[in-house]
Amino acid sequence: MRHNIPKRTFDTLIIGAGGGGLRAALQLSEAEANVAVVSKVYPTRSHTVAAQGGINAALGNVSPDHWHWHMYDTIKGSDYLGDQDAIEYMCRAASQIVYELEHSGVPFSRLDSGKIYQRAFGGQSQNFGGDQAERTCAAADRTGHAILHSLYQQNIRAKTHFFNEYLAIDLIQNQDGVVLGALLLDIATGEPLVIHARTTLLATGGAGQIFRTNTNASINTGDGIAMALRAGIPIQDMEFFQFHPTGVAGKGMLLSEAARGEGGYLLNSENERFMERYAPHAKDLASRDVVSRAIYKEVHEGRGCGPNKDHVLLKVNHLGAETILSRLPSIRNLALTFLKMDMIDEPIPVYPTAHYTMGGIPTNRFGQVVKPVRHGAEEPVPGLYAVGECACVSVHGANRLGGNSLLDIVVFGRAAGNHIIEYLKNNRYHIDLPEGCLDQPLQRLHRWEKKNRNSETIPEIRAEMQNVMEKYCGVYRIESLLKEGCKKIRDLRNRLSEAGIDDQSRVFNTSRVEALELENLMELALATITSALARKESRGAHSREDYPERDDRTWLKHSLYSLDGSLDYKPVRMKPLTVEAFPPKIRQY
Ligand code: FUM
Repeated sequence: MRHNIPKRTFDTLIIGAGGGGLRAALQLSEAEANVAVVSKVYPTRSHTVAAQGGINAALGNVSPDHWHWHMYDTIKGSDYLGDQDAIEYMCRAASQIVYELEHSGVPFSRLDSGKIYQRAFGGQSQNFGGDQAERTCAAADRTGHAILHSLYQQNIRAKTHFFNEYLAIDLIQNQDGVVLGALLLDIATGEPLVIHARTTLLATGGAGQIFRTNTNASINTGDGIAMALRAGIPIQDMEFFQFHPTGVAGKGMLLSEAARGEGGYLLNSENERFMERYAPHAKDLASRDVVSRAIYKEVHEGRGCGPNKDHVLLKVNHLGAETILSRLPSIRNLALTFLKMDMIDEPIPVYPTAHYTMGGIPTNRFGQVVKPVRHGAEEPVPGLYAVGECACVSVHGANRLGGNSLLDIVVFGRAAGNHIIEYLKNNRYHIDLPEGCLDQPLQRLHRWEKKNRNSETIPEIRAEMQNVMEKYCGVYRIESLLKEGCKKIRDLRNRLSEAGIDDQSRVFNTSRVEALELENLMELALATITSALARKESRGAHSREDYPERDDRTWLKHSLYSLDGSLDYKPVRMKPLTVEAFPPKIRQY
């Protein structure tokens, strides 16, 4: 069908203006490519702004360090599910990328020597499992904010073109599967817009909003991951969702691991430093999956704090006001705002909270989206790239280390930018948009012009989905609950397909946007719980009470979930680029 929709043409369309999208855009704009960055919020409100503790690089400013030790820690942290070529690439690139950020204006905190300040974070070690390392480069506890603002300013200087407050609806493809851009919705006017591009990069972040209690911004609705899934690309490792140990109890906002990195620790109702029992060596700085499980156990075995015994305490007041005010000012403010408690004076109630999507759109280390073809092989999807939390490259495997997500976005944002520059050189002309290529994306958009036919609203369905995911697919999982949860999410998906939007609240199309976002979330909730039900082992953040051991013989493989609900698997890339592989070992902290 022919449509009369306004169209803009660019070399590259980047969907998402967080650190990954902006780092790629900068690389491209500086190479004189014509780049459009589309963001559903003003770019400096992207979720990178909320990253607190820092970015990992083996600079060795505080304790001896080496990228190879960082690589080892990341592989061990991933519970051996991370791809070792991509992990080597990231850890090797880290120091240079941090110096680049420093030179582009990121105001890192400083040591007395003037060098970049580095703090301890979970799962970091010297010399392949020895003493604690201090590897996380920090701008107080607002490192993501500092990086995002610097990258945005650099993009303004480089004349990147921004489309702010546009929601991406779906990718546009031709019959050969070449991605030719996307259909967008101008949120303010409700008008559609086509961006026709030679290359498209998805950098839309994670899907933390599938869970009720989470650290994520309300915009983290997995839009890019769901778009890839609808475009026929199976999504990878969705069962691995990270729960951050220290969310504000009952509410979920992030209280940075930096609190423990600076010397804070966790206490149960018996005033015991319980992490000594679970991780005798690393204690409170064990990896996040280990600490989250420990807190869960303390609470469920009756050693929780407070009148309902439903949380533990994060103690930092012994560090003194000066350290808290200079190193942890934002989380102190968070606790003041949401708990009316001052961490300078007293310990703060915390509980694990959904934080990070380890799975996502499968890519290689150049950011190219890959898809299975015949006989277990995979091939890049022409014209399509993905980076950051929406992608699964996979450097985080079954459990990400704190401080590796900011690193991931800038390292692979730059790598994707470089690869796109080569692609553009080899693919000089735009491929025409074929007739009918907008039919499906437009159908999705128009479907949400439908008014409410029943009393059920989008926010109600969303809240129910989040509650189901929290209860049936949380820190610990078990077959009976996962099965029941799967059924409930499928029912919710059916109810959503029958729902309409509330005409009364159609201010700036917010109801329509909420509905489109919920469609994305619902597909990803189903992908997560279906993949979790299928994986019959415990690995990293995926802890099955009925299968408590890691099972490398059967399960050392990535899952691939398709839109029809089917699952396939592919091997982990165990071979690094230049060094010896780290074979799977028992993981202890
Ligand atoms: O705890 C934190 O500051 C979070 C950091 C991260 O997720 O990398």
